[in-house]
Amino acid sequence: MAHNSDAPWDDFDPTAYFSHNYHTLRDDDRLILGLVRDFFVSVGPSRPVRGIDVGTGPNLYPALSMLPWCQEITLVEHSTQNVAWLEKEVAHGYAPTWDPFWTVLTSRAPYRSIGDPRGRLASAARVQKGNLFGLPAGEWEMGTMFFVACSISGHHGEFEEAVNRFLGALRPGAPFAMAYMENSKGYEVSGLKFPAVEVGMPEVRRCLETRTTDLQISRVSSESLRPGYTGMMVALGRAAER
Ligand SMILES: C[S@@+](CC[C@H](N)C(=O)[O-])C[C@H]1O[C@@H](n2cnc3c(N)ncnc32)[C@H](O)[C@@H]1O
Repeated sequence: MAHNSDAPWDDFDPTAYFSHNYHTLRDDDRLILGLVRDFFVSVGPSRPVRGIDVGTGPNLYPALSMLPWCQEITLVEHSTQNVAWLEKEVAHGYAPTWDPFWTVLTSRAPYRSIGDPRGRLASAARVQKGNLFGLPAGEWEMGTMFFVACSISGHHGEFEEAVNRFLGALRPGAPFAMAYMENSKGYEVSGLKFPAVEVGMPEVRRCLETRTTDLQISRVSSESLRPGYTGMMVALGRAAER
């Protein structure tokens, strides 16, 4: 069973992962994006804040979901190839592939009032090569972490530590969204195997309930992405006082 540091993150193929996961907007991502949008619209900070997306990989939609509230969004990524992919994708105006994702967000006013989301993301995003297990505590006022805690290690202890590090990096009261694969048995990208932990709603709830407030966890049906998982889950809430 692989630990996080055993997996070949620097050989992660961002182009293959992006094509397989995000080339078209699937129904599961549309549902997740709608839940996150409505939550952030209901609790979004009233002044510009600093946000963080952890383990961004080749996925811009978590960062896009925070755009109306964030003057700065740190994208923390461990893999050299994913860092290079993100720097290029963000700086030069993201691909039209992300437009349907942005369109889901623009059904609510704070998103609709952003006329140039490409330019806004390019100026707000700071791509940072880093390790979530070394994140500083209490720095960020809004955060997202999608398909990371469940999908970077085969060990439950590291799943819990990843969630705790993410929540610990947020200031008390900061709104967050996290997405998880349900009962994932691991995944392949360009023939390379990456680890996962098999978690369901009870494990996610247990891990989050004492460290958050306003917690809502939803299950989203999803079968079409790949074999070896039973669905997706999204957790929304605020970081609790420590
Ligand atoms: C399954 S991918 C998820 C990518 C993306 N967030 C998404 O929603 O599709 C897991 C991501 O976590 C990154 N990662 C793995 N270990 C990490 C660590 N210790 N710190 C930060 N990121 C890490 C990987 O490089 C990869 O981009």
